[in-house]
Amino acid sequence: MTTFSYQQSAAMLNRSKKVLAGGVSSEFRRYNHPHALFYTHGQGSRIYDVDGNEYLDFTLSQGPLILGHSHPEVLKAVAEYSQQGQIFAGQHIRELELAETLQALIPSGELMRFCLDGSEAVQTAFRVARAKTGRPKFLRFEGHYHGWMDNVCWGISAPSAEALGSSAQPEVFPWSAGLSARSREDFIILPWNDLPLLADTLSRRYQEIAAVITEPVMCNSSCILPGPGYLEGLRDLCSRYGIALIFDEVITGFRLALGGAQQYFGISPDISVFGKAMGSGYPISVVSGKREWMELIEHSEVIHAGTMNSCNPTVAAALATICELQRSQPYERLFRYGQELMTCLRNAARKTGQNLLVQGPGPMFNTGFTTLPAIRNYRDTFSYDKAKLNRFIAGMHDQGIRIIGRGLWYISAAHGQSDISRAVTAAEYVLSTLDD
Ligand SMILES: Cc1ncc(COP(=O)(O)O)c(C=O)c1O
Repeated sequence: MTTFSYQQSAAMLNRSKKVLAGGVSSEFRRYNHPHALFYTHGQGSRIYDVDGNEYLDFTLSQGPLILGHSHPEVLKAVAEYSQQGQIFAGQHIRELELAETLQALIPSGELMRFCLDGSEAVQTAFRVARAKTGRPKFLRFEGHYHGWMDNVCWGISAPSAEALGSSAQPEVFPWSAGLSARSREDFIILPWNDLPLLADTLSRRYQEIAAVITEPVMCNSSCILPGPGYLEGLRDLCSRYGIALIFDEVITGFRLALGGAQQYFGISPDISVFGKAMGSGYPISVVSGKREWMELIEHSEVIHAGTMNSCNPTVAAALATICELQRSQPYERLFRYGQELMTCLRNAARKTGQNLLVQGPGPMFNTGFTTLPAIRNYRDTFSYDKAKLNRFIAGMHDQGIRIIGRGLWYISAAHGQSDISRAVTAAEYVLSTLDD
């Protein structure tokens, strides 16, 4: 098997550490194998580093590259539209066309505003919900990721499952130093997928709660699907108590279906947030929702602003991405390839006697080593053998297969049958080399 060298990246990382804090521009980029790497280019399902290594890419750059790297239609649209200008501090035709396209696709998307990334769009949704309800808090769930701003930078890391304490009143830990202490007062946190617990909490505390925010699939902790009736129950409870139901579709958007998880599951949130796959790697996101909520922005009661919002290249990229998704309809294939890969990984684990758990809907799924038959919530994720996962990810990487460090895989429209077979062959080999 090939031996990969990372010498050029190592040298550049040393240089980079003198100018970029930690050598990188986002915390998540530190955690590559064997260290942060430098890439030269990406094409289709492949990405290449400065040492000349080629990887079959299942990270899709943390999700955005649903069409694969360097899709020609996206590049063409960006180049052509940028010729007309970059940003106008005013409206432009493609922005209008993008909004009209999204309005037709997103079931609850009556009115919207464009932002630059998921984190910003989430905060905009909270502001709308607080303004309309006059209530101060949002309710969120353990292990769900909604960006890195202060009030959501909690509840995604903990020393152990035991440290989380009782489900009814969980302990919560900051992910970062320097968070405003008041940001802890912004939210109530609960374990996910437990409807009776949620119903009980809302019945007692709804007068404090402006919004409930959820990833419709808990992609950021093990790709957990909602239990039967959970999203329906959530919808009913939010309607009963006048609470905004916010779907964070930053991962599920344009990935489970063109209209996101809300189309896939047939549940209509009040407000939803899309990012990542929407722009094929260009910084654009959208906060979209029902008119009765979004009209607060319409009437300037809630302020949403941003110098760089909906600038030409990002809008052109998003429009080209969505048109290409509409034209090529890759969804059946994303599910089929994803589920085939999941089945083959399970078979490989069985053959090699490894306790690899593979779960998720298919277009994205998670791998981890545990003795549990399923991971049902964030607390269960503490059963994972992280050291073994790291060895698996490193082994796959040295075979030219790039997977997100926490075990998450994304399928793109650029992946083909031979890519799936190649990943399976590599996994069979790596699993056969892993000790406990
Ligand atoms: C579900 C979810 N919401 C929000 C965010 C934040 O988005 P961004 O990194 O674009 O700010 C992420 C990022 O990974 C995410 O996965």
